[in-house]
Amino acid sequence: MIKITQNTKTTIYYFSGTGNSLHMAKTLKEKLNDCELIPIAGLINQDSIIATSEKVGFVFPVYNWALPKIVADFIEKIDLSNIKYIFALCTKGGPGRQYVIPMMNSLLKPKNKQLDAAFLIKVFSAFILAGHNPMHSKEKQLKRIKDAELKLDKIVEIIRNNEKGKGKKGSIIPMKGTYKSFIEKVNTEDENYYTDEKCNGCGICQKICPVDNIKLVNDKPEWQHKCQQCLCCLHYCPQKAIQFGEYTPGRERYNHPHIKVKELINQKQVV
Ligand SMILES: Cc1cc2nc3c(=O)[nH]c(=O)nc-3n(C[C@H](O)[C@H](O)[C@H](O)COP(=O)(O)O)c2cc1C
Ligand code: SF4
Ligand code: SF4
Repeated sequence: MIKITQNTKTTIYYFSGTGNSLHMAKTLKEKLNDCELIPIAGLINQDSIIATSEKVGFVFPVYNWALPKIVADFIEKIDLSNIKYIFALCTKGGPGRQYVIPMMNSLLKPKNKQLDAAFLIKVFSAFILAGHNPMHSKEKQLKRIKDAELKLDKIVEIIRNNEKGKGKKGSIIPMKGTYKSFIEKVNTEDENYYTDEKCNGCGICQKICPVDNIKLVNDKPEWQHKCQQCLCCLHYCPQKAIQFGEYTPGRERYNHPHIKVKELINQKQVV
């Protein structure tokens, strides 16, 4: 099926695991006006996707210095030949330039396109699958989110004015090798997930997984090995019953203060 979107001047395609990117995408949409938000998870299984708005933006988290697999697959799939202006806004948890911008440009190159503008915004990392460091306090999370929001005003002006070549710096470190091994393993990393005795079979994990990677069998989640490693199930289980290896038991979980569970559940709705 061919999907055409042409209702607004700008279309933002987004992916979000724990809510940071969705919140940035929503705030950007409000500030830009004449802009629609489309979830990548809701479109990824379409055979063909044609974008027809004037401008297209991709908003998503940085994974392993680069792109979530679903976002890379989506960019390969989408037809952008009608698009006059392409931008990316990537949320991240760590410092540094990352490899995501050069990686995106290499995905766009076969389409004879490149990013006109790209922005990396540090928000907050809830990656608790390794190490024992505590999560940031709620106050620090809110401050980071506020600081990130404030950066959007300048970005909105750049996009409105069709400014090109902004913020396109990327790491010069060749990260292709480590990214390749991340992509090769990402779908089956869910073998390390399990539930503890707190699981009450509520089914939220099944509903919220953006790629339908969880099946409830006898009221317990079973992971289906098409995981994106977005951590949504782990953080949004109301009982904190989902664990990954040895690092997650007893550690705090992250629920985005401005994003509702329902909004994350809606992410996989076919649009
Ligand atoms: C699997 C995974 C890999 C990540 N890799 C990076 C990384 O390489 N660099 C970085 O700065 N943040 C990294 N992060 C942190 C996320 O980019 C950051 O928390 C982001 O804001 C999450 O967005 P979301 O809430 O929309 O999912 C990673 C997070 C996950 C889950
Ligand atoms: S969300 Fe948590 S409590 Fe509910 S079924 Fe899934 S693992 Fe169990
Ligand atoms: S199983 Fe969990 S970590 Fe994997 S894609 Fe679904 S919600 Fe994300």
